Amino acid sequence: MSETLIAQLNRLKNRLNELNYAYYVLDNPLVSDPQYDELYQQLLKIEAEHPELISSDSPSQRVGDQPLDHFTSVTHAVPMFSLDNAFNQDDLVDFQRRVKERLNTETEVEFSAEPKMDGLAINIRYQQGKLFQATTRGDGITGEDVTHNIRTMPSVPLQLLGTGWPEVLEVRGEVFMSKQTFNNLNAKQAEQGEKVFANPRNAAAGTLRQLDPKIAAKRKLSLYLYGWGEISSDWQLPENYYAAIQAFKNWGLPVNPDSEVVIGAGGMQAYYDQLQQRRAELPYEIDGIVYKVNQLDSHQQLGFTAKAPRWAIARKFPAEEVWTDLLDIEIQVGRTGALTPVARLEPVAVGGVIVSNATLHNLDEIERKDVRIGDKVIVRRAGDVIPEVVGPVIAQRPDGVRKFIMPTTCPACDSEVVKEHDKAVYRCTGGLYCPAQRKRALQHFVSRKAMDIVGLGDKLIEQLADMDLVKHPDDFYKLDVETLANMQRMAQRSAQNVVDAITDSKQTTLARFIFSLGVPEVGEVTARNLANHFGSLEKIAQAQLEQLIEVPDVGDIVAENIVTFFQQTHNQEVIQGLIDAGIHWPAPQQLEAVASPFTGKVVVLTGTLQQLTRSDAKQKLEALGAKVTGSVSAKTDFLIAGEKAGSKLTKAESLGVQVLSEAEWMEMINNG
Ligand code: IVH
Repeated sequence: MSETLIAQLNRLKNRLNELNYAYYVLDNPLVSDPQYDELYQQLLKIEAEHPELISSDSPSQRVGDQPLDHFTSVTHAVPMFSLDNAFNQDDLVDFQRRVKERLNTETEVEFSAEPKMDGLAINIRYQQGKLFQATTRGDGITGEDVTHNIRTMPSVPLQLLGTGWPEVLEVRGEVFMSKQTFNNLNAKQAEQGEKVFANPRNAAAGTLRQLDPKIAAKRKLSLYLYGWGEISSDWQLPENYYAAIQAFKNWGLPVNPDSEVVIGAGGMQAYYDQLQQRRAELPYEIDGIVYKVNQLDSHQQLGFTAKAPRWAIARKFPAEEVWTDLLDIEIQVGRTGALTPVARLEPVAVGGVIVSNATLHNLDEIERKDVRIGDKVIVRRAGDVIPEVVGPVIAQRPDGVRKFIMPTTCPACDSEVVKEHDKAVYRCTGGLYCPAQRKRALQHFVSRKAMDIVGLGDKLIEQLADMDLVKHPDDFYKLDVETLANMQRMAQRSAQNVVDAITDSKQTTLARFIFSLGVPEVGEVTARNLANHFGSLEKIAQAQLEQLIEVPDVGDIVAENIVTFFQQTHNQEVIQGLIDAGIHWPAPQQLEAVASPFTGKVVVLTGTLQQLTRSDAKQKLEALGAKVTGSVSAKTDFLIAGEKAGSKLTKAESLGVQVLSEAEWMEMINNG
């Protein structure tokens, strides 16, 4: 084979890639469409004559021939998180305040502000610069392999451009359908008597879910990248998020041209106003704006909650609103006794779902909005958020509307209702005597992130509680197949499954157990922090306020809730009952037993770590018996320095403290 043919083929491939990049990413076409086609035909001709020269990164190979017969699940190398939401400027002011507090700074924070594309998240993995795999977000841990469809998108490079990209590069972004493509598609679908899509997001999702890549190739999906997953350590992330995204763009990857860097809450507001004005003209659908702290070492410091990063927030645009009749206002009693007024509505479709209940939050809200039973009301639903009543349509108020009166006794147990000092919350004082509170507590106990007892659904728990078969969580462990089989809609077989699930749940973790107890304001993350910090239930139960507030995420109020909870005799009895039933968890790490080079040593972490978050690194060191502190002193034994370490590194060097890179540290753990 002549060398010149290969060279010619490569030249064509590179040129076509460049033209694609100019067209799709830079939005700046370099040649006319027929000129492009001409080059493409030349490529096809050579490949037809020499099929042995066809490589997977050739522009001709975007549409593979064979449809898949099923999707494959792929576990993400780095989980794909979601975002917390903000609904108004106050929420953004709060967001910046929290960020400043955690970063311990007074200065205004720099944010990347970007449109929140209404599509679906994707992870695209490049290895040695070649497109290797594309996966949907799925549940954040595992997604589906949709490489065959993503390859068909002309804006997605099969081969990264330029040089300097890392060996492994996972980029993340949103796959979406432009408004124009969506309208054309729906018109065509309707014409052919096919299903029309409710919105561009559904159309994009429906397209990615096709097994046959020819469909995706026709439907023209778009992509903007806004993040990354795994990146091998041969590339050093720049100092800020915006620069990282620009680096992706230089490698040929599409990024949103409408993103900007803004400063402080004022900057976030100005961007919001500007984008909201342009919203209708934008070529793509958006449902809000995403703000991300720009400085990347701050991401390390801020870390993640269970579901979302603390360095980002999504401000949603006001949601869809409709009018309907408010039939009645009923009271729901929550797990901690809070009485929530719930609107019973004439069923109505909002944002694609039928709504017949909506929260009214609390009495203050009802009074502030002056909502009355019998009113015509405005109902709003934003994304997957619970629908809410915005207010009455005063001009349409019928005669005979009634004001809502908060009951003075609990509708579930008749106990006295008290208004919480300084707050709008009314609470039932019945505690665990209140069947409604008990039911909520029981439902929480078995929930997925708590003891995870599958098969014990809300309805079954209601029945068991109403029949006094289960009063407290420990009673679950006394249930037998016979009792369960006598419940409504329960066959012998499902009863057996429930009993098996209850038995299985006995082996758990300390964090889950703490969370399942339902201590007010102790969520999943706090429970995990408590478990890691104290290592045993006894220590948590006996902890004083001062010890509790040392735990990350635990403030004065939470600490007080914890102390009060463990002091109450009935709680102690329930816990004892659960332990007696056989609930157990792996023993806490015996710190002394883990002989490691770090046992008993004082360690400081600095700079940006590649393989672990700062808090995971700290936990790991603590598990190895190290004491992790914040500043370098003569007492420090080791400084572990990530990328771009600053003053701590200088100080450590001047004090003669042993400095380890992240890789050296990992090696010591793995070999020692
Ligand atoms: S960042 C860990 N940026 O919104 C941060 N998400 O509500 C991950 N989305 O799952 C997301 N535009 O599908 C980010 N500019 C943007 C976005 C964006 C749309 C979607 C994404 C994510 C969801 C979270």
